[in-house]
Amino acid sequence: MSERSETAEELKTARLWLRRPEEADIDVILDVHGDPETCVHNPSDALTRHEEAEQLYRRWDKQWEQHGYGYWVVGRHGRARQLGFCGIKPMELHGERVLNLFYRFATSAWGRGFAGEAATAVTTWAAAHVPGIPLIARVRPANVASQRVAQRAGLSRAPHLDTEGYDGFDWIYVARPERWAP
Ligand SMILES: CC(C)(COP(=O)(O)OP(=O)(O)OC[C@H]1O[C@@H](n2cnc3c(N)ncnc32)[C@H](O)[C@@H]1OP(=O)(O)O)[C@@H](O)C(=O)NCCC(=O)NCCS
Repeated sequence: MSERSETAEELKTARLWLRRPEEADIDVILDVHGDPETCVHNPSDALTRHEEAEQLYRRWDKQWEQHGYGYWVVGRHGRARQLGFCGIKPMELHGERVLNLFYRFATSAWGRGFAGEAATAVTTWAAAHVPGIPLIARVRPANVASQRVAQRAGLSRAPHLDTEGYDGFDWIYVARPERWAP
């Protein structure tokens, strides 16, 4: 296998590869978002139909085109099988432009530290390549696993930024607390 240097479209960690999604990932987008367990805390993200997964893929792809980064597909070195998704999306929080950290993995991949490893890689990449936009994560208060992943990626709670989200009240985690001092 030829050695390729890391680009925005391709990140590597000790165990994982992260790459830009392709049309061929639409079925996995549906599998992961179609499993009710993966959307318990964020029901607005749940998908049931192939067309919905296709539309979601098109939105992800458009963001890659516009910004040069987005959500990555994640898998293990030496294996083509996709484990889940992790990435960043520009949005607004309290009127400020931010990068929202996202992660959703297939239930079969949970509990082995993959999400934390991928989220750390994405957070590190964002700090180096998009330093001007603060990175945050919005987490439902009962989603303890997601809170642990945010912490593992170096984010900390910023209760003064908590806000209403798409699925109810969200706890806000930030990568650079000093940037958001109350
Ligand atoms: C959140 C999610 C990505 C975590 O995936 P994962 O691969 O199990 O995460 P990790 O193995 O890296 O574990 C992260 C931490 O959460 C802990 N954890 C996992 N499941 C947990 C649970 N149900 N309750 C409490 N802690 C839990 C792990 O012990 C680990 O803790 P540590 O950092 O102290 O070792 C996965 O549960 C998921 O895809 N959930 C659905 C989508 C989702 O909620 N995304 C976040 C939206 S804000």
